[in-house]
Amino acid sequence: MMKTWQAGKRLLPMTATFGLLLAGCGRQDLSVLRPQGPAAETSFDLMKLSIAIMIVVLLIVFSIAAYVLIRYRRKPGHDEIPKQIEGNFKLEVLWTVIPLILVIVLAVPTVKAVFAAGNDHSTDKNAIKVKVTGHQYWWEFEYPDYGVTTAQDLVIPAGKAIAFELGTADVLHSFWVPSLSGKMDTNPDGTVNRFSFSAPNEGVYRGKCAELCGPSHGLMEFKVKSVSEAEFTAWIDSMKAPAVMPEDPQVAEKFKSACLSCHAVGDQGGILGPNLTGIGSRESVAGILLNDDTGVDGAPIEDNLKTWLHDPQSVKPGNKMPDPKSLGLSEEEIDGIAEYLAGYKLN
Ligand code: CUA
Repeated sequence: MMKTWQAGKRLLPMTATFGLLLAGCGRQDLSVLRPQGPAAETSFDLMKLSIAIMIVVLLIVFSIAAYVLIRYRRKPGHDEIPKQIEGNFKLEVLWTVIPLILVIVLAVPTVKAVFAAGNDHSTDKNAIKVKVTGHQYWWEFEYPDYGVTTAQDLVIPAGKAIAFELGTADVLHSFWVPSLSGKMDTNPDGTVNRFSFSAPNEGVYRGKCAELCGPSHGLMEFKVKSVSEAEFTAWIDSMKAPAVMPEDPQVAEKFKSACLSCHAVGDQGGILGPNLTGIGSRESVAGILLNDDTGVDGAPIEDNLKTWLHDPQSVKPGNKMPDPKSLGLSEEEIDGIAEYLAGYKLN
């Protein structure tokens, strides 16, 4: 009994580690193993094919090895050197041709999938064009055909091909929505990368930056919201509506002077920071403080905005937003701006 307990105690850290690792699998929307669109399905099919081939090879090689180990064991009195087979033509051909066939079986669908992944749909009239710009540590999404720019929540119509054009405002990032598609880099040298994916099912999918880009790289999250065509049109319309300003004149004054030099709402403001139009309807604040009024999976948006605005560096170390207090905003004014932004919803 004691021994079992001792052994169990030693296994505890390992069990805990695996438990933690597997806990990450619970989020349906961040897994390449649960593909939610054709691009991700292709990658998943390739994974299944290569794993199947590996398992077959493993089984055959290990069975032969086990058989040889048992069948040709050295027996008592068996002292002569066994027959040497080096340079056996038949065997050499056999173990060159079989791997070659396996490599071809793997290569053909892989090369096909790689070229298909680069199919960018940029000239497809039915595709929705989105210009993605990576920033330390947030994502900007521009819809050039609609004259709309947003941040952190990429809203797309379900089932439509989205033609992405990717760039960066600073360093190398990588745009990745694991359940929908593979990764694509945003190059700092000014070259533009293009690719495309679609999300047939309505829902919210988590996106990540997949290239180390600074201290808050791991916090550079975004969401893809796949909605019906009608909802998408309504979203575009409300994004284009005139800007809503804070009702309180003092808060409005401060918001304009301190925030709008970098951020924009509607057609007013700057372009250095994330566009804040309709931020009250977003899935998160700063990409990682999840908005949830019930408090089960996150916190109410107003609380998240206050957390962010009172100390942006503690939420995302190294981000480029100045501390609002250093811009001359009082605690009350920061709370006022948080309340206004939380109430700035679309539709
Ligand atoms: Cu951006 Cu990592």
